[in-house]
Amino acid sequence: MEPTTVRSRMASRIQHMVGNAIIKDRRFLDDEQLIRSEQLAVLEEIFNANVRDAEIQELSSHFAGVLRGDHPCHLAIWGKTGTGKTLTLSFFLNLLAEMARAKNVPVRHEHLDLSTPRPCFRALNDLACMLGASRRYKKGISLEELMLRIEAELASYPGYLILFIDEVDNVRRDRDAFMTFLVRRLPQRIQAKLILVFVSNRLNWPDHLDPRVKSFLKLNELIFKPYDAVDLQHILRIRVEKALLPGSVQPGVVEKIAAMASQDHGDARQAVALLGKSAYLAEKAGSTITLALVDNAALELDRDRYLTLLRSAPVQLQAAMAAVIEATSRAKGAPIGTGDAYDAYQGFCDRTGLRAMTGRAFGDLLDELDMYSLVRSRVLSRGRYGRTREIILDLSEELIQKIYGAIRMNFELRG
Ligand SMILES: Nc1ncnc2c1ncn2[C@@H]1O[C@H](COP(=O)(O)OP(=O)(O)O)[C@@H](O)[C@H]1O
Ligand SMILES: [Mg+2]
Repeated sequence: MEPTTVRSRMASRIQHMVGNAIIKDRRFLDDEQLIRSEQLAVLEEIFNANVRDAEIQELSSHFAGVLRGDHPCHLAIWGKTGTGKTLTLSFFLNLLAEMARAKNVPVRHEHLDLSTPRPCFRALNDLACMLGASRRYKKGISLEELMLRIEAELASYPGYLILFIDEVDNVRRDRDAFMTFLVRRLPQRIQAKLILVFVSNRLNWPDHLDPRVKSFLKLNELIFKPYDAVDLQHILRIRVEKALLPGSVQPGVVEKIAAMASQDHGDARQAVALLGKSAYLAEKAGSTITLALVDNAALELDRDRYLTLLRSAPVQLQAAMAAVIEATSRAKGAPIGTGDAYDAYQGFCDRTGLRAMTGRAFGDLLDELDMYSLVRSRVLSRGRYGRTREIILDLSEELIQKIYGAIRMNFELRG
């Protein structure tokens, strides 16, 4: 008989979920809940399977000098989100420090995580805190003061100092001051052999640097390629084993998730999230993870991800997205040129009273949309007529309408 009171319905639902558990350790489906040492343990297994081998080889060559008493130059790394930059670097630097310790080479490495945007002041303050040079300030202390404290803290350290500056393009105000300090000033004031590792999700971030910093910055460059389907299968299999009970995954599911994520720019974070969402839907449905459930999970994730992203995005980015949607709809879904998109953008700005940015700045917005996979753009060569860019809106119609609706609503709410 169907339970009728709210208590019994609730109890029965909970019983159903508990009875159908397929997840044995949820944390392995959500990296934010994994502590660093667990994450690194998972990684060692994966790296042993030759995932990210090319990158690890490159990193090893670059840093080899540390174990020989040389001073390797700085390093710039880029690759799309979810290509394993943060994890690989953390893993690599830990191992390097371990090897250096075994040879009595003093190596200190610090990870400055700028995954959310912040001004130079906060970035330096975070760095100072990490080095134990300062407490956290809201304000009332100058940039100069922060810099002096960092220098004083490091003054007498004689070894290698590796500063891993993650998502460096997120320093939003006074970026030049931040870079100038790290690249020009700090090395002159400390004894340590400083090696800076700048990591970014953007391909072109050094283009925006102050030329005076740039000319000073001797860099090696390393690109993280998107994961391919085979890499992603490795990554996923280990998660399946750690997170799920045996037999919870139907044949073909891991391959399918890996294929989907590798088509969508090889983002491992997304692959793990898709596995997690599929497992959740399977528990809810009281079944194992089936191919059909993976499709449902992908739809739900896309919707959540894009909508959350856009809701919290700067208004200019939202306007650029609305422009691409309008121009694409005028072109009946065909790829559009940058000019069409810019016209639509100016029209959108007129209607909503937003200040229109220059064509060049608009180009940067398009890059950003591309980075988040909201649009795809590719540069076409037209021989001696130069190059032009084509923008493709490759999302489901339902999702496009949801996004467009959300943006319009945001602008109406702004008045
Ligand atoms: N080699 C890997 N092994 C296991 N999981 C990985 C690996 N690379 C990436 N991931 C997964 O993808 C997520 C994103 O990786 P991360 O290093 O943060 O990427 P990036 O810094 O390039 O955006 C991680 O939290 C993890 O879930
Ligand atoms: Mg990262």
